[in-house]
Amino acid sequence: MKIKAHWYARPYPHDWEFYAECDEGANIDIAVKNDPDIKKIGPNPKEIVLQGMATCTSVDVVSSLNKMRQPLHSLVVECEATQTETHPKVFKECIMTYKVTGENLNIERVAHCVQLSYTKYCGVSAMIEKSGCHVTPKLFVNEREVPIWDPEESISNKLKKWLQEIAIHQPRGIVLITGSSRGIGAALVNYFAEKGFAVLPTSRNKVIFENKNIFESLYLDVSKLGSILNLKNLLQKNGVKLNLIIQNAGISSIDPNADDLNALNLTMADLRHVYETNVFGLIETNNIFMELMNKDGTIAFMSSTMGQVVRDSYLNASYRLTKRSVIQFAKQAALQLKEENKEIAMLSIHPGSVKTELNPNGRISVEQSAKNMELLFTSKFREKLIQNNGSFWIFDESDHIWKCVE
Ligand SMILES: NC(=O)c1ccc[n+]([C@@H]2O[C@H](COP(=O)([O-])OP(=O)(O)OC[C@H]3O[C@@H](n4cnc5c(N)ncnc54)[C@H](OP(=O)(O)O)[C@@H]3O)[C@@H](O)[C@H]2O)c1
Repeated sequence: MKIKAHWYARPYPHDWEFYAECDEGANIDIAVKNDPDIKKIGPNPKEIVLQGMATCTSVDVVSSLNKMRQPLHSLVVECEATQTETHPKVFKECIMTYKVTGENLNIERVAHCVQLSYTKYCGVSAMIEKSGCHVTPKLFVNEREVPIWDPEESISNKLKKWLQEIAIHQPRGIVLITGSSRGIGAALVNYFAEKGFAVLPTSRNKVIFENKNIFESLYLDVSKLGSILNLKNLLQKNGVKLNLIIQNAGISSIDPNADDLNALNLTMADLRHVYETNVFGLIETNNIFMELMNKDGTIAFMSSTMGQVVRDSYLNASYRLTKRSVIQFAKQAALQLKEENKEIAMLSIHPGSVKTELNPNGRISVEQSAKNMELLFTSKFREKLIQNNGSFWIFDESDHIWKCVE
């Protein structure tokens, strides 16, 4: 991709007027207003960024609706952004409103197309979000506002019913597990349901679980604030109080098929990408979901012995850095809880060496690891967790016990 921007070289008050050309030559005028009384000849550079985002997501929505044979009549995407106060001023928050019209549109499908663009395909909104701006999508179909994540309120209604008919009867309360589409997360969902928990599995990819103690998998991308807030609102609206959160979502590197990089070869893009999920996502999810916690609840953060000082190595550097941050965050959060006289237990965990996509050479199965982990959340173990609040626990595979190491 290649563009050129040219200055028109006009005198004041038109001295901030430009035109830009792309490779194929179609030009646009760009202007920054220099005098309140002059008429702007084109958008300013940041308006172009917003226009680019609105157009990029529009392309996704139009093409997905076409594929779904939805009779789209019109689509307008409006973006309204606030900026930070100091230079360089960047976008802080942006509301992106999709206005869709068409006869006999299937609302679920329209919402799904918007979701797909926002979560997966729209590269411009992904770039803007990576800069720290929170983009909130809103959807109007034939002038009626529709909740993007649950357009017919069907998930909310199902959740209400499940809470009243199933969850309430589970002796160990409700556990929410992040990153439960596969690996340790999926095994935890199944095992905890057998052990008397009502389970809320959350993931980016939908998974079908068979046990009635498990609610359907709820969408949560821990690296997207909009997704965290949406889930929190759904749970809060239905009066969900959580007994346990297991922050399991994690990645090892930008490319799941490539080995993570060594310390001195790290690129900041790779490092940021891993931090986005393993640290920022985990902390943001935690701090937003704290409001949903029972006052004697427990929050467990999946870390790894690869984050320990004693296991220092220059290999797999971004993963190690993030997992060390997780251990530290659990400690700091527990210190604050103590100061505030709160009895929520916090811990970071190493689950052992578990055979999964992330660790194909793991020594134990996901089922075994879920079984081991459940021991940590029995009432017998709670006193130990509270006494060592914020500590890092490792499952010792030879002695078959949990050891508090930091
Ligand atoms: N396996 C081990 O030996 C081992 C050892 C120590 C620690 N751990 C930790 O245990 C956790 C689970 O690991 P695993 O081995 O089961 O790995 P895995 O099989 O790769 O599973 C990772 C899970 O995290 C989810 N995930 C990734 N990015 C996410 C995001 N942005 N939002 C929500 N979910 C996201 C993935 O779901 P989607 O990609 O489908 O969304 C997947 O369900 C990780 O935190 C890992 O660091 C594992």
